[in-house]
Amino acid sequence: MATELQRAAPRLHYICSECGAEAPKWQGRCPACAAWNSLSEDVVRLTARRPGPPTVAATTTPMEAVMAAPARVQATGSFEVDRVLGGGIVPGSVVLLGGDPGIGKSTIALQVSHSCGDEVSPALYCTGEESLEQLALRARRLGCTGARVRLLVESDVDTVIATIEAERPSLVVVDSVQTLRDAATPGPPGSVSQVRAAVLRMSEIAKATGVPVLLVGHVTKEGAIAGPRTLEHLVDVVLYLEGERLGEHRMLRGIKNRFGATGEVGLLTMERDGMRDLAAPSRGMLDAASLGASGSVLTITCDGLRPMAVEVQALAVASPFEFPRRTASGFELNRLHLMLAVLAKRAGIAVSKLDVFVNVAGGIRLADPGTDLAVVLAIAGSAGDRAISRHCAVIGELGLGGEVRRVSRTEVRLAEAAAVGMEAVILPESFRGAVPDGLRVHRVRNLIEAVALLG
Ligand code: TYD
Ligand code: MG
Repeated sequence: MATELQRAAPRLHYICSECGAEAPKWQGRCPACAAWNSLSEDVVRLTARRPGPPTVAATTTPMEAVMAAPARVQATGSFEVDRVLGGGIVPGSVVLLGGDPGIGKSTIALQVSHSCGDEVSPALYCTGEESLEQLALRARRLGCTGARVRLLVESDVDTVIATIEAERPSLVVVDSVQTLRDAATPGPPGSVSQVRAAVLRMSEIAKATGVPVLLVGHVTKEGAIAGPRTLEHLVDVVLYLEGERLGEHRMLRGIKNRFGATGEVGLLTMERDGMRDLAAPSRGMLDAASLGASGSVLTITCDGLRPMAVEVQALAVASPFEFPRRTASGFELNRLHLMLAVLAKRAGIAVSKLDVFVNVAGGIRLADPGTDLAVVLAIAGSAGDRAISRHCAVIGELGLGGEVRRVSRTEVRLAEAAAVGMEAVILPESFRGAVPDGLRVHRVRNLIEAVALLG
């Protein structure tokens, strides 16, 4: 039988960075989600149950008592960020902000802390990545100077927590979770066990003091916030900042939200002096000069709940190579290959000797299948030097048989098409809903009918 001492000793076990499942021994593949090579070491301390008086029952709270005191949310100073958060930052909540390096996480975090803090109770910006001088440079650039934010260069969790208790800031930013170090947990900073422990500690202090915490996290190439997807379980809100780094547009996507709708998307632009809300989103993306030319097609994507007019551009030219090149920016390359195969097989358009380039204007990434038809028509248009009217939008998903399928939230997309000044729209035949006045409709059943509409 194990002694008390043995039971209290640390024991190694393994945690999956994809799904958070735990395993007693290392395996090449996670037994829960079947991801390869995702298990990494973690240490648990089994605390032996101490002998003592029997546990006393807890006092429960009647539902009405909590209903009477709705949580006051703090506005972040950005309508788009508030929208994704579900109104603003909830007291005592923990928000995780992820994104690729250089995308603008620190920029948003500093702007948000500047909005949330005031002279009486400033926000606290902790960084383990940058020096005070670097922070000052960014603050000057963003115009976030003054007494509303206090700075701390620190990576020790205990020190950060003690500072929060002493100063009771209006908001704490930790930039980034990967640099936090918990002395009681083994492993180097940034390891799964360290990051988990640090996030848990930050979450405890947020709940205990009511101070909201904004954690910045780096995303690995695979898309998970460095190592642990497991973090998503430990926090209240998970946001990802996305976009092409060199483009100006950014999307802030709500992946999880205990206080609002997930799937919300905030649209921002990265300017020289910081992140701004994108005014009249669709219009910001449209380039009047190129629409109406062959290879350029306007579509309405619906990312999350939000419709947005986006221009898809394609260039299909005779290839000098034996194996033609295909590149896609803002569109998944595998999906492009699939679209080309459908185009060849179902519409008889020869693409096997063409280099094909697809670009989504404005640095937007199209993940929505409702934009398939627009991509295919842009390619077919470029290949055959035929264009679609600049006042016509294209909506539809494409099946492998060349059939044009219905897409989600078509009504919302149509309203957006009308709002950005479109006069006509190419739609799946099966759509039965209402069409806004003044919008001419071309219903198509399949790719052949759609290609026939190219001028
Ligand atoms: P940053 O917020 O440091 O990104 P992250 O914390 O996600 O790594 O911003 C990185 C880039 O943004 C940097 O290359 C410069 C650019 N930038 C602007 O374009 N405008 C600005 O106002 C600021 C502060 C940065
Ligand atoms: Mg940063």
